[in-house]
Amino acid sequence: MGKARTNKRKPIEQGRVITVGHEASVPPGRGATVKLKDGTEVALFNVAGKFYAIENFCPHKGYPLADSKLRGTVVECEFHGWQFDVTNGACFTKPHCSIQNYKVFIENGWIKLEL
Ligand code: FES
Repeated sequence: MGKARTNKRKPIEQGRVITVGHEASVPPGRGATVKLKDGTEVALFNVAGKFYAIENFCPHKGYPLADSKLRGTVVECEFHGWQFDVTNGACFTKPHCSIQNYKVFIENGWIKLEL
């Protein structure tokens, strides 16, 4: 069993709601990196008009998942192909390497992240 890496850019959850952009800014089938003021970040995905957020970090070698290919609700790390469910952070490739997901909702067209 491989050892998962630690995400140093993982946001600390504090019950905050943060507006990260307009829903039109991330087209369906695409991901985007959301950088927060404190230097942490998350990967945001638009799956057919529904938004999901997970850590922007592949626990294998740390590649940013927002830059990887999205097929349905599965993002496949560009580096070595590990696959994650963007709806809940589950890792299909190594089940013990799941990552955190974050609540996302839309309000008047604006994407809000709960962290
Ligand atoms: S960094 Fe190796 S699969 Fe993601």
